[in-house]
Amino acid sequence: MTRVFDEDLGAGFGTRAVHAGQRPEPLAGAIMTPVYLTSTYVQEELGRNKGYEYARGKNPTREALERNVAALEGGRHGFAFSSGMGCVDSLMKLFRGCDHVVCGENVYGGTFRLFDKILRHYGMEFTFVDTRELELIGRAVKKNTRAVLVETPSNPLMRVTDIRAAADIAHQHGAILIVDNTFASPVFQRPFELGADVVFHSTTKYLNGHSDMIGGIALVKDDAIAERLQFIVNAAGAIPGPFDAWLALRGTKTLHLRMRQHDITGRAIARWLVDQLGAESVMYVGLPSHPQHELAKRQMSGFGGMISIELGTRDRAAHVLKRVRVFSLAESLGGVESLISHPATMTHASVPADDRAKLGITDGLVRLSCGVEDTEDLRADLEQALQGLPAAKREAGSGKRGAAVLR
Ligand SMILES: Cc1ncc(COP(=O)(O)O)c(C=O)c1O
Repeated sequence: MTRVFDEDLGAGFGTRAVHAGQRPEPLAGAIMTPVYLTSTYVQEELGRNKGYEYARGKNPTREALERNVAALEGGRHGFAFSSGMGCVDSLMKLFRGCDHVVCGENVYGGTFRLFDKILRHYGMEFTFVDTRELELIGRAVKKNTRAVLVETPSNPLMRVTDIRAAADIAHQHGAILIVDNTFASPVFQRPFELGADVVFHSTTKYLNGHSDMIGGIALVKDDAIAERLQFIVNAAGAIPGPFDAWLALRGTKTLHLRMRQHDITGRAIARWLVDQLGAESVMYVGLPSHPQHELAKRQMSGFGGMISIELGTRDRAAHVLKRVRVFSLAESLGGVESLISHPATMTHASVPADDRAKLGITDGLVRLSCGVEDTEDLRADLEQALQGLPAAKREAGSGKRGAAVLR
């Protein structure tokens, strides 16, 4: 299994982002880790090799990425996967058919779909709760609970879970805490420092940052969990190809710089949107009006570029989605380019309509991923897109928050 280089851990975040896990290549001294396009490795003699046997188990490009992100998160081991979902699926293989997981009720729709539509059929049990309410986590725990999984801030409602408190609850019951840190990235949130046992990412998003690959990564501190996960990686094989691993590794070199800009723009656009739509209609963890802003300030060092806005009706959402010019209508987030999406019909379409309505993922909800273009161009784009918004009338399923924009 891939372990961080201990000597990388003393450096500052930016230095780790650029160098951790990477050493000049021994043949020519290439400063960039080569893309090791190989499926197997020649063995010197029976039972003697250079530590590599077959590339499903290990690949040097992938190892560099795993060491790099493990160093950024403050974990000890890293495991890269072919997608964020491949990562979650492999993490669930740490458990057995009779085990129970407490999961945040507002997580990425694909995570919910994997648990609800596939893993349940193998006998695993899942209870979905509002993890903002700590007593609901405690109440959901059962004798067979093995893990609590939280996504914070959550996609797309920007809910914040108290990581330290969730870790304490999980540990009191002999379970582990798994944190999806995709939205915050290790630049702004370090779940291991707050007690998490496993941290994971869709590397497709901020870690890669350039919207040119799909991947996932899990970071682990505990050697026993890491050994089991290495077994799963090799046995189940949800690994990324070396070129995708290399693209993600190139992305992490500038993660700290990109996140700084996402954060500057996120804050500015969120404040401007409050003036246009009212504070109740803008969900951004960096706004003082966000119900959990104080908690966000405690456990995050920045707030990034993810904003959701409630426009009240599907027509009003469609109006904005059609008129944007700099933002592009597309699934995904975290890239250098700004994206805009409609969670109810895109990322969270697999969540049943009733559940979506209860959660507040309404037909009027629009999610923005602010990229690193000029802030002023993004603001101007939204300004022209909001012009001529159809008159607000309440639509079925537009939820409580929707009422706020019906001014
Ligand atoms: C928060 C979060 N976690 C996990 C995933 C799944 O990642 P992937 O699309 O790389 O499989 C996503 C995808 O949008 C996500 O937003």
